[in-house]
Amino acid sequence: MTSKLFSSFRLRGLDLANRIVVSPMAQYSAEDGNATPWHLMHLGNLAISGAGLLILEATSVNARARFSPGDLGLYSDENEEALAPIVDFCRRHGSAKLGIQLQHAGRKGSSGLAWHGQKPLSPKDGGWVPQSPDDIPYPGKPMPERMSVADIKSLIDDFVASARRADRLGFDLIELHGAHGYLLHNFLSPLSNQRDDDYGGSLDNRMRFVLEVFDAVRAAWPEEKPLGMRLSATDWAEGGWTLEDTVALAERLKARGCDYVTASSGGTVPGQEIPIGPGYQVPLAARVRQETGIPTMAIGLITEARQAEDILEAGQADLICLARAMLFNPRWPWHAALELGAEPAFPPQYERAHPAMRGGDFLTARQ
Ligand SMILES: Cc1cc2nc3c(=O)[nH]c(=O)nc-3n(C[C@H](O)[C@H](O)[C@H](O)COP(=O)(O)O)c2cc1C
Repeated sequence: MTSKLFSSFRLRGLDLANRIVVSPMAQYSAEDGNATPWHLMHLGNLAISGAGLLILEATSVNARARFSPGDLGLYSDENEEALAPIVDFCRRHGSAKLGIQLQHAGRKGSSGLAWHGQKPLSPKDGGWVPQSPDDIPYPGKPMPERMSVADIKSLIDDFVASARRADRLGFDLIELHGAHGYLLHNFLSPLSNQRDDDYGGSLDNRMRFVLEVFDAVRAAWPEEKPLGMRLSATDWAEGGWTLEDTVALAERLKARGCDYVTASSGGTVPGQEIPIGPGYQVPLAARVRQETGIPTMAIGLITEARQAEDILEAGQADLICLARAMLFNPRWPWHAALELGAEPAFPPQYERAHPAMRGGDFLTARQ
């Protein structure tokens, strides 16, 4: 029987060769938002991994939208120029289709690098004042600046400008980062948004900003290219954003032409009660898929080929997102293909690594 993980999948006008997606992973290695040689190594390696889709890390739509000073950006001509050769390399040598995740880090912005403990950075240490829907800080982080309606409108323009840059660079897909306690999620969760205007209060009002960003980017992004959204499907916290809210939002997103939802979770408050374990967020993707019919990506501690295959066979998700498993073993898709009876997609330079090519013939033929 043909493996489902290695069957193709179509998102709007984009054909993916298989269902493996490299999840966006911030590298904290950019300079003023500009990609560096680290990104060439990191993304080049993942582009030849055999995954069907590679989504670039959370990429900021303006300098203040960054989580850390090392975040990738797509808000200046310089940012665009720095990313261009990396995209070209991935296209030339890799088989993965290329997506990019657009972000604003919200009230978590202006933090130090991951390996420096993500401690808040003050403006005198090169940080900035983060923005948020409300003047409610993330515990342990500085007080954010509450966004005015003018700030909201101007930020939507920034998302659109970054989407246009992503199109010029030739990206196939955009994902909006609506998870992990970042700005879009800040608007959704009652724990971080207690505004009393059109952008806070009722569920409809808390969803307004996310839907406005979605509509504006959808209008600017070519019709045939997919646009998806990563959501924290639950805050895992009393009084927070819930799975029922996520289903309601996914329904609206789907009606507006959203191509998929990735069901991540958490990030709004520390001390969340997360039932961590293999595939712990898969039931969230399953529920969104079953209740709304929107394609979903499952993410979170999916590490085994058989596990990924079972999730797809059970109809819990349409695509399988992998983060840490791909850093640990960037050849994960090759191994999974062999285990599930499919053919890995090798670049020609590496094809002699295939177990079927390990006989003696090639050694005598060409050294
Ligand atoms: C190094 C690293 C960087 C990450 N950066 C991002 C990011 O930029 N955007 C995002 O939505 N999630 C990010 N995540 C979360 C992952 O995409 C993923 O949701 C999480 O690691 C769970 O999946 P896993 O068990 O396959 O690692 C990051 C995770 C890691 C390990």
